[in-house]
This record gives sequence, structure tokens and C-alpha cells, in this order.
Amino acid sequence: MAQRTFAMIKPDAVAAGDTGKIIDIIEKNGFTIVGMRKANLSKNQVETFYAVHNQRPFFGEMVNFIISGPVVLLALEKENAIQAWRDLMGATDPSKAAEGTIRKQFGKSIGNNATHGSDAPETAQQELALFFPELK
Ligand code: RTP
Ligand code: MG
Repeated sequence: MAQRTFAMIKPDAVAAGDTGKIIDIIEKNGFTIVGMRKANLSKNQVETFYAVHNQRPFFGEMVNFIISGPVVLLALEKENAIQAWRDLMGATDPSKAAEGTIRKQFGKSIGNNATHGSDAPETAQQELALFFPELK
């Protein structure tokens, strides 16, 4: 059954001019883009979005990175979309990501790793509701 996930192209990849290439990879891999918007997120939005990480030592750094420039927000649909998008992104640390994955190609470091993807059905639902409340 088709499933939806939330994806983000992070400020590093947007600033590097890789938005189009990443969207091309998404479409070539069979995802349907059901929502897409470029945005400058507020500190409040990012703190809400990353709330599960608020005890991690790099939380402040991570929030500042996401608000450092525009991001591209995406709602993606595909069979098994959550896992399929995480597989296509590759490991969190680009230096450990497999050949051909997005983070391997476009990520610079564990912090500046080009993209985000929801990690479970509950978080996908929360993240989609936060950024695409108009999608039902
Ligand atoms: P994401 O949420 O961005 O899709 O990444 P993920 O699931 O692969 O990784 P997660 O554990 O959820 O971590 C969220 C983001 O935190 C940053 N991070 N920095 N400095 C560090 O050691 C460190 N570890 C994680 C990464 O940018 C990661 O995407
Ligand atoms: Mg995560």
C-alpha cells in the first residue's frame, strides 16, 4: 500500500545548488511528490520538529544549521515510502553512506548531511502534519 513520508533538503544542499539533482533522483526512484515548498524555517518550528533530539549535545548546533538558510520541504508517496526514502538517503554520516546514496553524493559531514527523512510511521505523520497540514 502506498505510504507517505516527510523529507527535507537541508540548507547545505540547497546552498550548494543541489536541489534539482536531488529532486530528479527522488522522481527517478519512483516517489510521487505530493507536496513541495521552499521555506526559511523559524527557530520555533525547528525546535518542535527536532524535539526528540533536544537532550543531545549537538541540538543547538543542529537547530542553527537548519535555520541558516532555505530548505525544501517534501511530502513523498511510494510503496513503503519511509524505509525506501531512508535507504535512498543512506547512512546519517555521509562518510559511511553507501555508493549511490544521496548523502554519499551530496552530504559534507554528519551535521551537514543534505537531507532528512522521517524514521517511523508516527514521526512521518507528525512531521507531515507540521509542515503540510493541508494534505489529508
Ligand atoms: P535525519 O533525522 O536528519 O533524517 O537523520 P537520521 O535519522 O539519519 O539521524 P538522527 O539520529 O535522527 O539525527 C538527526 C540529525 O542530527 C545530526 N547529528 N549530528 N554531531 C553528531 O554527532 C550528530 N549526530 C547526528 C545529523 O545531521 C542527523 O541528520
Ligand atoms: Mg532522524
